[in-house]
Amino acid sequence: MVGVSVPSYGESMQIRAVDHPLAAARLTTLRDETTGNAAFRGALSDLTQMLIYEALIGAPVTEVPITTPVVATTGVKLASPPLLVPVLRAGLGMVEQAHAMVPEANVGFVGIARNEETREPVPYLESLPDDLTGQPVFVLDPMLATGGSMLHTIELLVSRKATDITAVCVVAAPEGVAALENSGYPVRLVTAAIDDGLNEVAYITPGLGDAGDRQFGPR
Ligand code: PRP
Ligand code: URA
Repeated sequence: MVGVSVPSYGESMQIRAVDHPLAAARLTTLRDETTGNAAFRGALSDLTQMLIYEALIGAPVTEVPITTPVVATTGVKLASPPLLVPVLRAGLGMVEQAHAMVPEANVGFVGIARNEETREPVPYLESLPDDLTGQPVFVLDPMLATGGSMLHTIELLVSRKATDITAVCVVAAPEGVAALENSGYPVRLVTAAIDDGLNEVAYITPGLGDAGDRQFGPR
């Protein structure tokens, strides 16, 4: 529940958790209802840095020859930088920091507003490369609740031939995790927490409220 401990969910989908006291502290700031919009955006940015770090552990690298002020040697660069795809609005608060971590990355955009009556995702923006063959993709959205918005985004990516997708989230509900697992899509999850579940209006509990509103105000 609260914190960064992640129980095992299923066998098929890889789940990585950021397990660090600083991540837990930033998550606490995000959860706290007294945190204002500016402080919320700051904590989300800090936590995104840790999530991207976690998501790139073990990423393939290419060796590059360099010369230090002292001697010629060999360094590395990411072999295949991920396409960053923030899901608007809430994912906007993650993209600047993610891009700072991977400055060579390209960025696509998806806009989805969940219908709070039906809980169904209502897409309103799609700006993605046509062909994602061989391209790793990081989807940035702090909240994985029912999973409907993430699944819609993954479908957009898979229809463009993406086969290496990472959902980068802050708080996930078990229901959303199960939805991703059961989809059979080529996705893994990096998150700071898996919470208790959804309440009667499909908000994550304990959660952190509406991640878009807490950054940008009500829509
Ligand atoms: C939030 C969140 C996810 C979605 C999660 O966005 O950022 O995109 O809800 O819910 P789901 O897993 O049940 O689909 P919201 O629709 O509130 O839009 P916003 O980011 O513009 O506030
Ligand atoms: N969207 C949010 O922003 N928060 C939730 O708890 C669920 C959906």
